[in-house]
Amino acid sequence: MIIHRELSRAEVERVWSIDRSEVIDHIYYFENGGLVLKPEHYDMHGWPPGEAEKYTPELLECFDRGGWFCGLFDDAKLIGVAVLDVKFIGRNKDQLQLAFLHVSSAYRNQGLGQQLFEMARDKAREKGAKRLYISATPSEHTIDFYRRQGCIVTPEPDPALFALEPEDIHLECDI
Ligand SMILES: CC(C)(COP(=O)(O)OP(=O)(O)OC[C@H]1O[C@@H](n2cnc3c(N)ncnc32)[C@H](O)[C@@H]1OP(=O)(O)O)[C@@H](O)C(=O)NCCC(=O)NCCS
Repeated sequence: MIIHRELSRAEVERVWSIDRSEVIDHIYYFENGGLVLKPEHYDMHGWPPGEAEKYTPELLECFDRGGWFCGLFDDAKLIGVAVLDVKFIGRNKDQLQLAFLHVSSAYRNQGLGQQLFEMARDKAREKGAKRLYISATPSEHTIDFYRRQGCIVTPEPDPALFALEPEDIHLECDI
């Protein structure tokens, strides 16, 4: 049975046990004010090298300032995670970032990503945010997923987040 619960600080590093494998055939680019889909092939086996080393300290900082870490578990196995940062961003400081959303390969396309997204959106609303901000992996499946959740390309990318991930598609959605 799949359950969800918040992660403890000691469990944060378990996010890297999620199976990140994915075959990508198309990538979105933001060009001339719109999204353009281009054929590009990647056969990803697990996380890119160095990802855990690079992002674990950031995730722990996010946790320490009160970030919300929600895990989906199949018995004891962690199979999905959503992270909501609680640092307000945007011109009006009324947006919160969905800092991490991943579902293990074998568990995708069953509605679990949507479940995590909706819980993160509820949590952002509870914290007083007006919008959710996402710096999203530009793969076709990922961007199509977020668009189905009601996300649009943000007219005002966060300068710091854009500088970190200029290849990402920067999205926002009402909550
Ligand atoms: C993006 C991601 C989190 C989505 O999670 P997911 O669990 O696959 O998402 P869902 O199952 O809720 O939705 C995926 C699709 O399945 C469909 N679906 C939902 N419930 C379903 C069901 N019961 N049966 C069949 N299909 C279903 C949805 O319509 C959706 O279609 P869409 O992609 O065209 O919108 C996941 O695919 C993932 O981890 N991808 C790789 C990592 C990544 O890119 N993360 C985002 C970083 S920004």
